[in-house]
Amino acid sequence: MCGIVGVVGHNNSKEVLLKGLEKLEYRGYDSAGILLSDGEETIAIKTPGRVNDLRELSTDAMNGTIGIGHTRWATHGEPNVENAHPHLSKSGRFGLVHNGVIENYLELKEKYVPSELLIGDTDSEILVEVIDYFSRTGLSTLDALSQALSEVRGSYAIALIDVEELNKLYLGKNKSPLLIGLGENCHFVGSDAMAMIHETNEFVEIMDGEVIMLTSDMMVIYDKDAQVIERGSFIAEIDATDTEKGLYPHYMLKEIDEQPSVMRKLITEYTLPNGNTTINNEIISHISQSDRIYIVGCGTSWHAGLVGKTLIEKLTHIPVEVHLASEMGYDMPILSKKPFFIFLTQSGETADSRQVLVKVNELNLPSLTITNVKGSTLSREATYTLLLHAGPEIAVASTKAYTSQIAVMAYLAKAVGMIKGDEAAKEFDIVREMGIAASAMDALVSEKDYIATLSESFLSDTRNAFFIGRGLDFAVSLEAALKLKEISYIQAEGFAAGELKHGTIALIEEGTPVIAVITDENTASHTRGNAIEVTSRGAKVLTIAGENVSRSEDAVILPVVHSLLTPLASVIPLQLLAYYASLQRGLDVDKPRNLAKSVTVE
Ligand code: M6R
Repeated sequence: MCGIVGVVGHNNSKEVLLKGLEKLEYRGYDSAGILLSDGEETIAIKTPGRVNDLRELSTDAMNGTIGIGHTRWATHGEPNVENAHPHLSKSGRFGLVHNGVIENYLELKEKYVPSELLIGDTDSEILVEVIDYFSRTGLSTLDALSQALSEVRGSYAIALIDVEELNKLYLGKNKSPLLIGLGENCHFVGSDAMAMIHETNEFVEIMDGEVIMLTSDMMVIYDKDAQVIERGSFIAEIDATDTEKGLYPHYMLKEIDEQPSVMRKLITEYTLPNGNTTINNEIISHISQSDRIYIVGCGTSWHAGLVGKTLIEKLTHIPVEVHLASEMGYDMPILSKKPFFIFLTQSGETADSRQVLVKVNELNLPSLTITNVKGSTLSREATYTLLLHAGPEIAVASTKAYTSQIAVMAYLAKAVGMIKGDEAAKEFDIVREMGIAASAMDALVSEKDYIATLSESFLSDTRNAFFIGRGLDFAVSLEAALKLKEISYIQAEGFAAGELKHGTIALIEEGTPVIAVITDENTASHTRGNAIEVTSRGAKVLTIAGENVSRSEDAVILPVVHSLLTPLASVIPLQLLAYYASLQRGLDVDKPRNLAKSVTVE
């Protein structure tokens, strides 16, 4: 969703902003803009199109030492030039970029902003006018900003330029991500490290409620009570090349290919030389003492949670519930006596998940965030964090985050099971099994050409598709359906195979594609039975089956992996099927319509 980038004290600020916005494109957006000043002249350019359009609109002569830039994912008002950021106050004094949603924007408008000052429909435009209003009452810019933010209800990350002080950037944050980057004689700001990683790998976090003043050589952080505070920096573990596509046509394909090596990295990150896990003992004992685990996530992360439930229950015998964050935030179930919460989130910034964490913290309950982004909001606010070590995931369609979430939960389940003396955990040789899974993934990612032909023959002219499976294969079917629909726009549904006959089978007609995932020896014959039922009604069936349960007619045969880790293998051909279905339809694989990578609004 929306992305912010800003810079102060850099001679080539235009390039910093444009490059930063390009790096934020993956988050999803529908308009973009920059505001730039050389200390004398201040210029804003905006477009309802792509960052590349901004590049074309900007002239060579345009440059500056300070600037702010924005990619907007429309919430209030359509994606047009008027609604694109940066917003300049009508007086021309303040330029603002904003991420988040100001819930009481109409109230603020009523109180402080006459309608004739407004040209667009956004809550952000109202905010810049409120700041301007307070500044006109005689407050300094910092105080005007603080006063305005104290009246805001909702989420925001903002960067503000005062054209009367063109050596300063002002920042504010509440519930939306924002990070400061430290450069040589300059400072950066961005929605995430990726926006600045081509300039620096040293960052300073900003906490909710803080207001910041940045110059080229000074950073002053004011806490909620307007007290100046000191905060150290941290070095991000990514480097600029991690965010490049290299020779790949799309990030999604690169990220699918990276999965075996991510699995191997996780083996190294989570295993000590003596074979024990590196997971902090406090986390392990806290979880082992809980009487119920609540896994919370959205989309693909929720699907990984369904696999996590099986892993944790089988290896620890602690009951697990898996919840959709967007539902749980408004309807907390009756909790057990000693609950433990696990938040699964690639970005660590998903607003739906965060609102559950806020409630969990209000209840003083323990939590763990499993995320790909160190220092992200959900990581900071949970009791504990485990990292996915997957490297930046840029494609909107999540692939390597899914498999690394499963792998990290396998490590966690093994560690907790061991401390509980669980026999199944003792027998589960995780290093060996993860190694086998990584090799299976290697074999499967090398089947690209074959999967491309399957996609061509099976999905090219369909409007819908069904994925069926039982147990973990059902969990993978849900993920496969999400992958296919989000990037190919084919209407796809994942079903528990046995459930089809309870209603959905009515949708099967001549030629309907049904993809059956079959890896479990105990249920294989039942799912095959369900596949026959749909074939008899005209469906085209394609089976993806484990080698141990395979038949000659299966389209893809998966190398054998441990029964608890089958999703690591079975998901690969399904990710590739979705990729090629999107590609063959000529769609934008990495940036599907209407979607954002980091969903920072509820
Ligand atoms: O960053 P998160 O893991 O919290 O994101 C959750 C979902 O928005 C995300 O998994 C989404 O479903 C993906 N686009 C699916 O590919």
